[in-house]
Amino acid sequence: MLISGTPTRTIGRSDAGFGDRVEIIDQTRLPHEFVLRRLTTLADAAEAISVMRVRGAPLIGATAAYGLALAALTDASDTALHAAADQLIATRPTAVNLRWAVLRMLARLLPLPPGERVDAAWMEAAAICDEDVAQNQAIGQHGLALLKNIAARKSGPLNILTHCNAGWLATVDWGTALAPIYAAAEAGLGVHVWVDETRPRNQGASLTAWELKQAGIAHHVIADNAGGHLMQHGRVDVCIVGTDRTSANGDVANKIGTYLKALAAFDNGVPFYVAAPGPSIDFSLASGGEIPIEERDPEEVACIQGRDSEGRVVSVRLTPVGSPAANPAFDVTPARLITGLITERGVCRAEREAMAALFPERT
Ligand code: MRU
Repeated sequence: MLISGTPTRTIGRSDAGFGDRVEIIDQTRLPHEFVLRRLTTLADAAEAISVMRVRGAPLIGATAAYGLALAALTDASDTALHAAADQLIATRPTAVNLRWAVLRMLARLLPLPPGERVDAAWMEAAAICDEDVAQNQAIGQHGLALLKNIAARKSGPLNILTHCNAGWLATVDWGTALAPIYAAAEAGLGVHVWVDETRPRNQGASLTAWELKQAGIAHHVIADNAGGHLMQHGRVDVCIVGTDRTSANGDVANKIGTYLKALAAFDNGVPFYVAAPGPSIDFSLASGGEIPIEERDPEEVACIQGRDSEGRVVSVRLTPVGSPAANPAFDVTPARLITGLITERGVCRAEREAMAALFPERT
């Protein structure tokens, strides 16, 4: 996407005279500051994933791939690569793209002699990134066709509700749930986006809103609890969300709060689509109940970060000292509440046979 007119990806290799390194956008600093950060070691990559400098299932996978390339720079032995893989996979448990990318890297590297592994690692990580971009562009086009159909049945701009950030910041470029919105905007289709703030980390309020503003797309940030009311009053035409892991039966793990939006959409007859790139589908899990749900630091619930009246970015406490907080980071939306999955290979029902027909090599 364009940042101040410059095409920008969320991650990339850069050697620019400083030796091999990886550059990321530090998403913990957005929307207040746009800061690039350099990763030079495996530990840097693991830290960036676990503290969410990079986040979003596809981008976590891409970062882990580059993390293995950085690990190989130091030690490309089988033992070291296996240890690096374990370290990376342990950083965040829910998004399956992380494990998928790490296993793909190992499958590419381990058969090679150690002396050839570094170059191969950089190339494979770059290939994962390029494929992610192509998948998301295809999701954008399939989603655009859906949006055009819905728009044809109404007048005025299409009101789309999204949760969390499944935009280009969650991927290498384009995003998953936001890719159809970007495609619609490019195609001249009038769109307006309801952006769930997405407590506790506020990926909607801080990241999705920032992206949409950069792209000049009409939007309003709403409190997480507002979506049901807007749906009851006919102010949401369609919901599109992302996924961190979709099980073989079409259940979808996504950012906490997604399930409640799917329930409200179902009750109000609002179509509820999930943008699901192939690497986020886990055919090894029979149902969503098997998906590991990340529990994050309760401080993320107890405190909130923002800019104060003097322009400083500060964290303030919301809860009484001594009140415990709990922080499950994802929930599972049952397939029966999902109108369809938008994949890079087309749109399908959230059910085993339909998904397997699109991805026969995976089943
Ligand atoms: O905890 P995060 O920010 O890494 O969560 C991931 C997400 O942004 C969403 O759950 C998203 O919808 C899936 S990733 C495209």
